[in-house]
Amino acid sequence: MQDEGYSFPSTTINKKLKKHCQFISQTKLISSYITDFFFFFFIMANHIVLLSLVALSFCYLAFAFEPSPLQDFCVADPTSSARVNGLACKNPMTVQANDFFFSGLHIAGNTSNPVGSRVTPVNVAQIPGLNTLGISMARIDYAPWGINPPHTHPRASEILTVVEGSLLVGFVTSNPDNRLITKVLQKGDVFVFPVGLVHFQQNVGYGNAVAIASLSSQNPGVITVATAVFGSNPAIAGDILAKAFQVDKKIVEHIQSKF
Ligand SMILES: *[C@@H]1O[C@H](CO)[C@@H](O)[C@H](O)[C@H]1NC(C)=O
Repeated sequence: MQDEGYSFPSTTINKKLKKHCQFISQTKLISSYITDFFFFFFIMANHIVLLSLVALSFCYLAFAFEPSPLQDFCVADPTSSARVNGLACKNPMTVQANDFFFSGLHIAGNTSNPVGSRVTPVNVAQIPGLNTLGISMARIDYAPWGINPPHTHPRASEILTVVEGSLLVGFVTSNPDNRLITKVLQKGDVFVFPVGLVHFQQNVGYGNAVAIASLSSQNPGVITVATAVFGSNPAIAGDILAKAFQVDKKIVEHIQSKF
């Protein structure tokens, strides 16, 4: 780009642009020339306009998930009939310490169920003071060889800490690669599950295991793959699932009967 006579002021952003332009002028692709044109257009238009656009795109990134609070707190008012994105705020004058409080994460969850695990959530449903704050947590108990079945949180990334036992954890990347990324964790180890990706944990020890998960939403949501697909209400038609899973309809009906 430089040899084509454009001049760049020495801001960091423009240095990056310059690098990019040098790169694309080296790779002689038609698409590069189109990109070149747009960079030329932007640069000639006005540096301030360009910087505003960059700043604006950062704003959109910042608001891509939960909105930042615009007040100290917005303790959820479960009695309000107002419909907002989140929960309506209680009168701040009536807010008490207990609105920010939960007790019970020292208590092990009951893992006597077919999967051998139990999640004890601590989100805005348990602590109304979490409303608008974009965080929550959970305790997860695992019986020996118990699993937290493949599931996804539509609104949150998750960071999980093992506080007891050993866990095999994993998540699968989106289409088309569907790469499985797994690791065995020991006590004190921390692992991240990126937002929206299907993930699971398995206790790979003969004793109980315990983990604490933190999530980047006050209301992360959970979609358990097996329950959503085979246990929906009403059921997804058997022929649809038979074709989707490439198995006989009888097998689908058998799985559906479990949920
Ligand atoms: C745990 O759950 C099972 C199955 O629902 C139940 O039979 C059992 O009583 C529960 N145990 C405790 C300690 O609550």
